[in-house]
Amino acid sequence: MDVGIARERIEGEKRVAATPESVRQLVALGLGAVIEAGAGAAAGFADSDYEAAGARIVRELDVAAVDLLAHVRPLDPLRASHLKPGAITVGLASPSTELPTVRALADARVAAFALELVPRISRAQSMDALTSQALVTGYRCVIEAAIRFPRFFPLYMTAAGTIPPARVLVLGAGVAGLQAIGTAKRLGARVSANDIRPASADEVASMGGTFIKLDLDSPEATAGAGGYARELTADRGAHQRRLLAPHVAEADVLITTAAVPGRRAPLLVSRDMVAGMRPGSVVVDMAAESGGNVEGSVPGEDVAVATSDGKGAVTVVGLKDAASAMAADASRLYAKNVANFIALMTSDGEAVPDFADEVLAGACLTYDGDVRHEPTAQALAALATATPGAEAEAAGEIEGGAG
Ligand code: NAI
Repeated sequence: MDVGIARERIEGEKRVAATPESVRQLVALGLGAVIEAGAGAAAGFADSDYEAAGARIVRELDVAAVDLLAHVRPLDPLRASHLKPGAITVGLASPSTELPTVRALADARVAAFALELVPRISRAQSMDALTSQALVTGYRCVIEAAIRFPRFFPLYMTAAGTIPPARVLVLGAGVAGLQAIGTAKRLGARVSANDIRPASADEVASMGGTFIKLDLDSPEATAGAGGYARELTADRGAHQRRLLAPHVAEADVLITTAAVPGRRAPLLVSRDMVAGMRPGSVVVDMAAESGGNVEGSVPGEDVAVATSDGKGAVTVVGLKDAASAMAADASRLYAKNVANFIALMTSDGEAVPDFADEVLAGACLTYDGDVRHEPTAQALAALATATPGAEAEAAGEIEGGAG
């Protein structure tokens, strides 16, 4: 049985779903690997290295013939519809935003597995692509900030004078936020952080950050299912922004990574709060692509916001495709997640999903014509009877992470 790896079709995506190392793992499982020529080029992996690892290189991957297709970004509906019945797909599927593709996968009777839906249990950690890619993104946020910040991060005591360390504030201390805290600490900054999940205080401290405790809410109101955060009501959100304002004003660098699965990213920082920072400060909004934690951030762009003291501007960076920008290591981790996931359903060189396994059952999006992930099935049903606006509402209910 062959695993097919195509060049990613989405403009600007540099990652690839297999590396020469992961090909070796697939081959050791008794699987074949068919790689579209140039699939790994943007991530720094040459066709000849894939060949040396045991893969076959083809000029164009025929998705209609492939048994198992591994991918990074969600497929488009047309490509999904070309897959053969019974084919397996493994990759990021973004069910909350890609409903037409989910419909196409179900109609084509594909066994589609969405890595976003892998349950976040210890046994599945090696397959958790959300975690591996968030790690890359959290690191990258800090690097993007450091490049733009006109000062050092570390304390320097020199004969020419003392330079104080930068003050970095991280809002949202999940996987990416914790990685941002650790990276900023390693660069020598003084780091503080806030998150609404009750468990996050200890996690922030373990990375060397100072936790900012806000008098916000009871844990029951902020902690949702599966260890994720719960969306705050509008009033509570406004209250949180008021409490955060003095901390934001004190920060030299602000990094926001807050998310609630299946929802628009929470707005944590208003334009006034940004304007209240010192000139030269830098804000990196990791959530820019999913609605933004920072008012006015634009994905893929730097926006200058004039400070309220009239003395200068704050740079607001709308982070976009951060994991893709570090394609080599992001692919290395992602490809390993994919190969480990495939290994879970493979014996004697054949991939056959056994839904008694909670990881496979949890990550299954479509199978044999059905949409197995209940929130997505409900969203599709709502779409089918759509009144104007039903699509966005339906999409907002999807995911819940571990599904
Ligand atoms: P995420 O990407 O969904 O959200 C990022 C962070 O934003 C979360 O920590 C969340 O609490 C925070 N957030 C949401 N609304 C906020 C607000 N209004 N203000 C401030 N912060 C806000 O989360 P991620 O990074 O995917 O991790 C979520 C949870 O899953 C964490 O508890 C993490 O420890 C856990 N996890 C467990 C794993 C496992 O057991 N295998 C693997 C990875 C994560």
